[in-house]
Amino acid sequence: MPAKKTSSKKPAAKKTTKTTASKKAVTKKPVAKKKVTKPKKFVTPQAVRGMKDLLPRDEQYWRLMYNTAQQFADAYGYGRIQTPVVEEAVLFSRSIGEGTDVVDKEMYTFNNSDGDALALRPEFTAGIARAYITCGMHSESQPVKVWSWGPLFRHDRPQAGRYRQFHQWSVEALGARDAVLDAELIAMAYNSVASLGIDTVVHINSIGSLEDRDRYIIELTGFLRSKRSYLSETSKARLTKNPLRILDSKEEQDQVVLEEAPQILDWISEDARKYFMSVLEYLDELEIPYILKPTLVRGLDYYTDTVFELYETEKEDGSQTALGGGGRYDLLVQQLGGRETPAAGFALGIERVISAMRRNEQDNDYVYADPRLQSDIYFAQLGVQARRKALGIIEGLRKAEIYVHHNLGKSSLKQQLEQANKHGVTHSVILGQQEVQDGTIIIRDMESGNQEIVDQKKLEKELKRILKK
Ligand code: HAM
Repeated sequence: MPAKKTSSKKPAAKKTTKTTASKKAVTKKPVAKKKVTKPKKFVTPQAVRGMKDLLPRDEQYWRLMYNTAQQFADAYGYGRIQTPVVEEAVLFSRSIGEGTDVVDKEMYTFNNSDGDALALRPEFTAGIARAYITCGMHSESQPVKVWSWGPLFRHDRPQAGRYRQFHQWSVEALGARDAVLDAELIAMAYNSVASLGIDTVVHINSIGSLEDRDRYIIELTGFLRSKRSYLSETSKARLTKNPLRILDSKEEQDQVVLEEAPQILDWISEDARKYFMSVLEYLDELEIPYILKPTLVRGLDYYTDTVFELYETEKEDGSQTALGGGGRYDLLVQQLGGRETPAAGFALGIERVISAMRRNEQDNDYVYADPRLQSDIYFAQLGVQARRKALGIIEGLRKAEIYVHHNLGKSSLKQQLEQANKHGVTHSVILGQQEVQDGTIIIRDMESGNQEIVDQKKLEKELKRILKK
């Protein structure tokens, strides 16, 4: 065939010409040596600042925290909702508020190729309120109780307990205004953290209705203006933009001024005060420890009435970061174009609760089985045929809920048994060439070294007997 002819002859012809050509080149015209530029080693990109990898060794805390969140949500009758990570940017500027740090400084916003202004969610509440409206949840039985879990994004200055990608467990009850609901949410937040062995205290305040707050802001601004020269630079800047945030300042010079500042509780209406008193009475009833914090106003604009934060009891100097926070947001759904829908909720910062868990580890028995270390048996094999057969047997055992670890890539029995010891198993199963032929398998007691040969068909039953499963 023509194709074959060309391929068999041409290379030979080429060879001769090449040799002559290269000889000539060596003797007469030395060819300039081409510089071989080594390809530059690719510099591995680092994880983005403020964003962390969560490794299998961290998993024990994450799983425990997630299981706790799920169990508490089930016990209190909350159903899981999962909203998208990306939303229209206007959703957050409208709800969290222009002038807040989260919206003005920390939001990850971008335009997609359709020109839509989008944002990575900096919190859950706004997205959940949006879903409540757009998914018609107002026609369900009220209040609609939901929870969510996942990553959030804030372009904050990274520091201990403050990340640019972090996680929250957010719990929201939409469609009811009742002091008992506020208290129950606080109890849920408090009890879930307490169940992890973390001593916690609730900081609580009421910021009243929107009108109450507006009246208070006028009063507060007047007072702070009169003390302007004593305030920190940050607080001076906040005087016009968001004077309420000055109450949050940790600067000592601001603290001195704030000691004499008017307190919001003195400015809220009689109705708001009564409502708040009932919340506190329920908390007393539930024996939830709380501290009244007149300067607690929270950093998001949608709150009305009850606001609260959770802190570890140990460091009650006010300098530490909150484990979680929440409050009532009766106007949010309406602000987003929905019906009048009172609501309340809270969110725990998972990274912060997990660092508290780590700090309290000595006093707590966080029972968790790392799947990389925990298995019922180790499966060792010897020889090609055994290796081929092994995976099928292992799959069968897993279906019978016997957890098996193995390293089918290893061929030395010694190495495999060493690995079995590292996994801390009491028994190993060994399949060799002989056993493949006989249809048998060896069960080895790792402590005594005793071995028993069983029929492969009876392996599952025998292991269950030994492992008392
Ligand atoms: P938040 O106070 O902004 O409230 O966040 C709640 C918790 O999330 C904080 O107490 C903290 O533990 C954690 N957190 C916030 N920012 C960061 C960060 N940059 N790095 C690590 N952890 C952080 C809210 O997000 C409201 N949506 C809570 C809520 C739900 N209110 C009513 N319903």
